[in-house]
Amino acid sequence: MNRQRLGINLDHVATLRNARGAPYPDPIRAAHLAVEAGADGITLHLREDRRHVRDEDIRRARDLPVPLNMEMAATEEMVGIACGVRPHACCLVPERRAEITTEGGLDAAGTRNALGPCIARLGDAGIRVSLFIDPDEHQLRAAADLGAPVVELHTGAYADGKAGELERLVEAARIAASLGLEVHAGHGLTFDNVRPIAGIPAVRELNIGHFIVGEAVFIGLAEAIRRMRAIMDAARRSR
Ligand code: PXP
Repeated sequence: MNRQRLGINLDHVATLRNARGAPYPDPIRAAHLAVEAGADGITLHLREDRRHVRDEDIRRARDLPVPLNMEMAATEEMVGIACGVRPHACCLVPERRAEITTEGGLDAAGTRNALGPCIARLGDAGIRVSLFIDPDEHQLRAAADLGAPVVELHTGAYADGKAGELERLVEAARIAASLGLEVHAGHGLTFDNVRPIAGIPAVRELNIGHFIVGEAVFIGLAEAIRRMRAIMDAARRSR
């Protein structure tokens, strides 16, 4: 089976930095280490409230030797920043200021009018656009209609242990691929729950952050990434 890419989300290195208002730990230093350890891409979420990554981090990440995936809300401000920075990819996510993390997928079906122009502008700037959505056929069809080349399936409910979620993800990945969409997945993935998701043939990329950064406290960032990579590779070999 094709090799699955591993994107490492380093937002929470910035969370730690910001907790003390210090210049360290530097998420871009962590990004270089992540690349050496085998990350295929780096993901950073520039939130409207800048609670972790800041504009300057995004600009510096542009020079990394692997693709930068900028997560962001579909707002005028963020589209403007992305068109200036020109990351390899932008993943559009819903954002609510009060949330602790991205709680659900985008309502691609219900917000077509707002999303359409954002997707077009980012695409015109040469940025590959992905939509972070729940594993739901209605949303997948809306993403395809909107002309997004990629969808990232929200694995949060699966990671929370909700019954039937793995089956929903497997089916959503199949439908997405049949619609011509490139399929990514992420949110809440750990050493213990990543295997079934890594084993879904149509899923070409996983984006993993919080667990990896937490695990880095115990075994180091490079080792956490290498272990995640090894589990993903084993899952694909055993299919
Ligand atoms: N993918 C998207 C679109 C996300 O918003 C997040 C969280 O920022 C992730 C993946 C990574 O989730 P986690 O940090 O739980 O691994």
